[in-house]
Amino acid sequence: MPQRVRIEKIDELKVGEARRFDYERGGERQEGFVFRSATGLVAYRNWCPHWGVDLDIGTGKFYAKKVDRLYCRNHGALFRVHDGYCDAGPCASMSLEAFELVEEEGAAVIEVPDLPPAIYR
Ligand code: FES
Repeated sequence: MPQRVRIEKIDELKVGEARRFDYERGGERQEGFVFRSATGLVAYRNWCPHWGVDLDIGTGKFYAKKVDRLYCRNHGALFRVHDGYCDAGPCASMSLEAFELVEEEGAAVIEVPDLPPAIYR
């Protein structure tokens, strides 16, 4: 059964900002992030498909405004904001793991599946 992660006061997140969150899956602690674009909120696992490491190296910053992409601070992969597809960098044509998200009364509720899709394991 998917777990739900609730992040309060997400309505305070400004365009271009992200907020990280933790969850447990498969017996390990993992991290995701919610990002607010000009068109709304998206949620992804904080995990680069290139090396399987955090995108932000602990900074909480995921956005490259000049190119309007989420990016990985390790080797510069660029991901489209709306779907997490990598269109430049060492993992081009791969994608971030996206999570379902709904907004409820100023909070974000993120649904994390029990298992990541096979391509992310
Ligand atoms: S680890 Fe993300 S681009 Fe290499």
